[in-house]
Parts: sequence; structure tokens; C-alpha cells
Amino acid sequence: MLTSGPFRRLGDRTSPSVTVGGGRTGDARTGRGRARTRGPGPSGGGYPGGVTFPVVGMVGGGQLARMTHEAGIPLGLRFKLLSDTPQDSAAQVVNDVVVGDYRDLDTLRDFARGCDVITFDHEHVPIEHLRALEADGIPVRPGPDALVHAQDKGVMRARLTELGAPCPRHRVVTGPADVAAFATEVGGFPVILKTVRGGYDGKGVWVVRSEEEAEEPFRAGVPVLAEEKVDFVRELAANIVRSPHGQAVAYPVVESRQVDGVCDTVIAPAPGLPDELAGEAQLLALRIAAELGVVGHLAVELFETRDGRILVNELAMRPHNSGHWTQDGAITSQFANHVRAVLDLPLGDPRPRAPWTVMCNVLGGDYPDMYAAYLHCMARDPQLKIHMYGKDVKPGRKVGHVNTYGDDLDDVLERARHAAGYLRGTITE
Ligand SMILES: Nc1ncnc2c1ncn2[C@@H]1O[C@H](COP(=O)(O)OP(=O)(O)OP(=O)(O)O)[C@@H](O)[C@H]1O
Ligand SMILES: [Mg+2]
Repeated sequence: MLTSGPFRRLGDRTSPSVTVGGGRTGDARTGRGRARTRGPGPSGGGYPGGVTFPVVGMVGGGQLARMTHEAGIPLGLRFKLLSDTPQDSAAQVVNDVVVGDYRDLDTLRDFARGCDVITFDHEHVPIEHLRALEADGIPVRPGPDALVHAQDKGVMRARLTELGAPCPRHRVVTGPADVAAFATEVGGFPVILKTVRGGYDGKGVWVVRSEEEAEEPFRAGVPVLAEEKVDFVRELAANIVRSPHGQAVAYPVVESRQVDGVCDTVIAPAPGLPDELAGEAQLLALRIAAELGVVGHLAVELFETRDGRILVNELAMRPHNSGHWTQDGAITSQFANHVRAVLDLPLGDPRPRAPWTVMCNVLGGDYPDMYAAYLHCMARDPQLKIHMYGKDVKPGRKVGHVNTYGDDLDDVLERARHAAGYLRGTITE
């Protein structure tokens, strides 16, 4: 386990104070000196009978929120969700749901009023809104100064370059002719173009082979970042979790395989990765988190180059697909540690439980009824763990994932692939 930062004894920590009716203050940790039925902070998140737990406010109702909520249940945490629709993945399972638009400040303010801390399922909340919430006194974790680097790939590249973090050659480009000029600077086409905001699962990323092909990305009217096309051997992710008081834990570096721009398989740890390079990647992620002031889970997506270097692709400041294996393969999952971090609780052990864990995403296929496949999958592999998101099955849509683990990588890979393929319907025996 890699940890950094001071380990403060719990007793050393200043207990947060709360104001209760009539202006008295009390100790939120011990409950002494205050009304026993009242929750910590402004939320009133208390259970009847005097037990108090904080309310974690999650913006965004996708599967990451659903699984973060799940991780908070054993801790007795209260969870409040701001979701686009009542049908979203997390909205189906959280009982305190506000349906509303995260781009609207009034909606966010109303939502935040019932929360002790705000965290995220995605990075799209406008930064100025997050600053407004902070000014209202609501802890936002990760905070806007960190989150902007996951929201805007141009800002991220500029800051990482400033920090000396290894990146592909890049620059913001103004139009197709500028892309052609950039291509000349980096040794010719093809180059990669990315809209600086709003991309996911490869949407918003183009491989461009000529000046003519470079027109498309500019149509959205969003600034465009050009990058050299890295000739990588594989993609890796260095995942860490950092808490406000500076404790941090690093998970083993994983290999992440994409198919058509969508994460398909994650292998933990990355097979054959030299210890030195793995350590370098973990330290890089820890350093980025500390420099940017990240709180919670940080995924640093990396390229491993043919000449044995690592380059940063992008940052995600929330639980991440490359960390789903930790649910069944690590002592403390990314979701559990994200929750601990945003509440500034001591972080849990990130070490793996088995020599190998493999995660495969389950994409929608031609069979809408995936439940029918459970019988075969579970009977075939009693160690298999299925995680479904409650989403309607549509071709190519991420609707769940499976985790398997064991001592033999080939066997673990085969079991995970078989289950994901069987659930999707591409394997029928
Ligand atoms: N500079 C590059 N050189 C080569 N391949 C790249 C480059 N940048 C991105 N890619 C490929 O495109 C994929 C998607 O890029 P990126 O991660 O920036 O986009 P995204 O849509 O925000 O990602 P995500 O799927 O993580 O949401 C990468 O995983 C990688 O396979
Ligand atoms: Mg990515």
C-alpha cells in the first residue's frame, strides 16, 4: 500500500461544530452539548432515536452514483441524489431523490441545503455554480479548483505541462488549417482531436488523417485540443484516493482495454508492468492529486509507450470504470474509499485480495432480458460477481460489468469474458 501525507490521530482532529436552534454549538462527533436528534451540519440527517449520520449529496444519477450509494450503506450514511430523471440508474435505488437540472444554480442550492457534503457522478456541473455552493458554506469534494482539470481537457493539459507531468504533444487549435500546421509540428497526420469539454466513452474524440477530416470536431462550437497520436503499447490507469487532510492511498496500476472508444476489459494489476514503472505511475497520480487539491477518487488514464514511458491521457475525479474491479478485488473498493474521502474519514486498504482480478463491461446486445442469462453464468462460475445498473438494454450501451478473480490470469480473463459475452448475447454456450 502506498500512503502519503500525515496520518492524524482521530483525537487530534478538530471536531466540526454545529449550531443548533437557539444558537448553541455542540460537538458533531460526540453529540455532546446539542440536541441528540439533530444531524450533523445543516442537513438534519438524524435517525429517530438520536443516532446521527452525515448526508452525502451526489450530483448525477448514473451507475457511479448507484455504486457509491451502495458503498455507503454499511456505514449507515444518508444519501441524497440530484438526478436528471427518476429512471436514472441511481434514482432507482436511492430513496431521497431530487429530480432536477444540475446546470441550474437554484436547483443545486435547494438540493445542497439538505447535504453535509456534495460530490459527483460526473464532472459537468458548471464551475461557477460549485464556487457559489462553497460560498454558501457547503463542502464540495472534489472542489471546483480541482474539478476544472477533469472538466476541461485544455485546462488539464496546460496545468499538467506546468507540473512537468509527461503528456502527448498537444495544443488548442483554431480550425482545420491550424490542425494541419499542428500535424506538421508533430511529424504529420494522423493526429487526435478532442473537444475540450463534454466528451465521454470516446465521443468527442476523433482520429484525423487530413485537413478535410479536421472540419467535423469544430462544428460543435467548443474549443478543440489537438494531440499527437501516441503509438502506445497499451492503456493503463493509476487510481488513487485522497482525503482533505492529505491522506492518500494508491491502488495497483491496471491495464485498461478499449473497444471502439469504450472501456471493455480492465486487468488488475497490469500484467508484466515493471515495478518501477508502476511505482512511477502511482507517484505521478499522487502528485497530481496533491498539486491539484483533489479530494476523492482520481483516475489518471495513461498510455504506456513502446519505449517504456508513461504519458497522461486524461484525469477523472470520481469513481471510474478502471476501478470497478476493486468492488470484488480489493480490500476497500474505490466507491467505499471515495465516500470515506469526501467525509474526511481515514481511508481503507487499497491492496488486492487476489493475484488477478478482471473486470469486463457488459454492453447491451440483441437480448434485452439479461436476467435470463444469470442462471448459466452463475452456474458456470460461482466466483463471478455481476453488477448491473438497472438500465434498459440498448445495443452498445454500458449496462453493467462483471468481476472475476483468481490465481491464473488466463483463466480469470476467460471467465470474465465469457460472462460478459454471455450476458450480452454474443456467446451462447
Ligand atoms: N493522444 C492520443 N493518442 C492515441 N490515442 C488516443 C489519444 N487520446 C485518446 N486516445 C484514444 O481515445 C480514447 C478516448 O480518449 P479520451 O480518454 O481522451 O476521451 P473520453 O471520451 O473523454 O474518454 P472516456 O472514455 O474515458 O470518457 C482513449 O482511451 C484512447 O484509446
Ligand atoms: Mg478516457
